Amino acid sequence: MELQVNSLWENNDGMTICTNKSFLDIEIIHSFLSNDSYWAKGIAKELVEAAIENSILCYGVYDGNPLNGPAKQIGFARVVSDFVRFSWLGDVFILPEYRGRGLSKWLVSVITEHPKLKGTSFQLATKDAHSLYGKYGFKPIDKIENRMCRPLDWESVYQGYEIDKKSRENSND
Ligand SMILES: CC(C)(COP(=O)(O)OP(=O)(O)OC[C@H]1O[C@@H](n2cnc3c(N)ncnc32)[C@H](O)[C@@H]1OP(=O)(O)O)[C@@H](O)C(=O)NCCC(=O)NCCS
Repeated sequence: MELQVNSLWENNDGMTICTNKSFLDIEIIHSFLSNDSYWAKGIAKELVEAAIENSILCYGVYDGNPLNGPAKQIGFARVVSDFVRFSWLGDVFILPEYRGRGLSKWLVSVITEHPKLKGTSFQLATKDAHSLYGKYGFKPIDKIENRMCRPLDWESVYQGYEIDKKSRENSND
């Protein structure tokens, strides 16, 4: 079975979810992550681009249908996965003016229903949206004492991309 890389979903409100990376608006994604997220504040644009390139599936949410012309990107999420046992969901956001109308629920339901993702162990980190993800089967990690995690080290990440430390001012974990 081939991986469907460019899938598209439309709702009755003129919104679209699409996995075609060429439609993604890097400026909007970088602006949100860098200025408004609590998990990647100050992140360099090159790292956002690299994360998108290296994520197996990226989901853009659009006001309009990007296949039919310009459509504004209003949300995003990306998935890292081996499509067998492990998946990780990250960088989920909906722009403030589009919140409260079910778009993130639609987005997470589309992602978790992907035929090659739906059976995998799916992980994510969240400060306060546990009940959102709980609707789609996410639970606190079982047997946490059997899990280990090597913390994110921004310093080394930036070094790995040979990006000047100055460009990461204000970034935090
Ligand atoms: C979290 C976020 C994606 C929700 O998007 P949204 O499109 O407004 O959400 P929806 O309208 O689909 O509704 C979300 C549902 O999850 C619930 N929820 C749980 N935690 C929530 C949270 N932190 N923020 C918003 N809704 C939350 C809502 O109550 C709602 O449930 P309900 O329909 O039973 O009332 C959006 O507020 C956002 O982008 N926030 C900033 C970035 C962020 O925190 N991302 C998540 C990182 S894990």
